[in-house]
Amino acid sequence: MRIELDTDKCQGHLRCMDLAPELFDCNDLGYGTLLSSGPIPEELEPVARRCAANCPERAIALHPVDIR
Ligand code: F3S
Repeated sequence: MRIELDTDKCQGHLRCMDLAPELFDCNDLGYGTLLSSGPIPEELEPVARRCAANCPERAIALHPVDIR
């Protein structure tokens, strides 16, 4: 699974960083950022789903990683 953060939608609520500091950080302006744009470890997929579900701006999308 890969996380996509839509910086146009993000308003800096930072629930993502609170829920998963191992996946999200914030920039100097207080907006969410991704720590990595690559595939995330399988054990972090549940918390990534929680982040996506809890972002009030729906700025977080999850994508399956094509392993072919
Ligand atoms: Fe932005 Fe949503 Fe996180 S608004 S800071 S992606 S909770």
